[in-house]
Amino acid sequence: MIVKPLLICAVLSSSITLSLSLSLNFLAFTGYGCDTKAVIDILAHRDATQRAYIQHEYRTMYSKELLKRLSSELSGRLEDAVLLWMHDPAGRDAEVIRKTLVMDQNLEAATEVICSRAPSQIQYLRQVYYSKFGVVLEQDIEMMTSGDHKRMLLRYVSTPRYEGPEVSREIAEKDAKVLYKAGEKRFGTDEKTFIQIFSERSRPQLNATNSCYHELYGHSLKKAIKKETSGNFCYALLTTVRCAENPGKFFAKVLRKAMKGFGTDDSTLIRVIVTRTEFDMQYIKAEYVKKYKKTLNDAVHSETSGNYRAFLLSLLGPNE
Ligand SMILES: *[C@@H]1O[C@H](CO)[C@@H](O)[C@H](O)[C@H]1NC(C)=O
Repeated sequence: MIVKPLLICAVLSSSITLSLSLSLNFLAFTGYGCDTKAVIDILAHRDATQRAYIQHEYRTMYSKELLKRLSSELSGRLEDAVLLWMHDPAGRDAEVIRKTLVMDQNLEAATEVICSRAPSQIQYLRQVYYSKFGVVLEQDIEMMTSGDHKRMLLRYVSTPRYEGPEVSREIAEKDAKVLYKAGEKRFGTDEKTFIQIFSERSRPQLNATNSCYHELYGHSLKKAIKKETSGNFCYALLTTVRCAENPGKFFAKVLRKAMKGFGTDDSTLIRVIVTRTEFDMQYIKAEYVKKYKKTLNDAVHSETSGNYRAFLLSLLGPNE
């Protein structure tokens, strides 16, 4: 009998997954008590496709939801982190936005997530948001935020933006001048102009405007934003421009703030590590060690403990 190579592959990969869900069941959920460490170590090293596959296999084999099982076996911060990790990236963003915006009313966190995502990610997560929660993202933003912050977020999630790398120097210069006129040059701020430019320009274009602003006026656009605006509106504009400039540096800063001083902001630690691991964690780690003279792994190690620590460190990968 000749077995086609493709078929062998399929059989092999399915048996790997099969034994994985079997071992999950055996390790975690038999009478020996919960060998949590083994389970989270397996899960931390699976990518989004594999995690979806494991959940599917688990459902087929045990007629049960793996997430429910994990939820009943784990608790506290470890549970929060593992359950969030199990989603695919868009589903995770939708979960995080819903939780921060509606449940916790942590508007700074919701703003961080929304304004740091690329336009195509936002379009996709809006669809997932609706299918998960039965409400349109804009409705929740409308309900939970106010003023210029609300206007900025609504425009930001609903305006399609170009995602290519090209920039126009001419437009960057023009926008820098328009922003100067709308802000520092006048008495009071013309917020509408800020919202328009920040929600319509591509990231590379906004980054070019940021550089132009510096050349023309001797200080950064970020400084102007801090001077001219405040609160969550200020944070939305700053997040947008920081992510246009250097997203790794932006998230390193968010993590640092979550760990600095007394106590730890675990929900921020979980949110950033779990949602960035599959995207740009190596850049975040590089920026972190450059700026704070300590590796991100060491910082997380000293702020956390037990299996929660082990899970976050598995996601972070090598200590470098
Ligand atoms: C933003 O512009 C600066 C200065 O021109 C440049 O060094 C940096 O690489 C740009 N950032 C991105 C993400 O392209």
